[in-house]
Amino acid sequence: MKKVVLILTMVAVSSLMAIDGATLYKKCAACHGAKGEKKSLNVGKIIQGWSKDELVSSMKGYQDGTYGRSMKALMKGQVDAYSDEQIDALAEYITTLK
Ligand code: HEC
Repeated sequence: MKKVVLILTMVAVSSLMAIDGATLYKKCAACHGAKGEKKSLNVGKIIQGWSKDELVSSMKGYQDGTYGRSMKALMKGQVDAYSDEQIDALAEYITTLK
């Protein structure tokens, strides 16, 4: 019995902690388009079709200031609070857009 309770608790905790890239992406869609198809604010690159590595490294680069162009401060504000796991989930989700 104890074992069952433990397993159920673990399932509940892990689903609470699940990070959903689709949900995280909702706020990004305003600028990048629901499918990542827009040039954000007419200056960003179209991120649809980017590899996961490119997405992760650009987002981490915005966080630490090593990536970006004229509007990088804006993007830093968008992604700064995200953990590595959230960045990963976002990148994973964006690669599925088409
Ligand atoms: C208010 C509009 C806006 C929102 C919201 C926004 N972005 Fe951006 N994004 C931009 C702009 C503008 C750029 C280009 C910035 C620059 O000059 O480097 C950009 C660049 C990027 C890039 C790199 C592409 C490039 O142009 O080099 C990625 C990846 C990205 N954004 C992902 C995201 C994600 C993921 C979110 C949501 C968490 C998000 N953005 C939210 C406007 C936005």
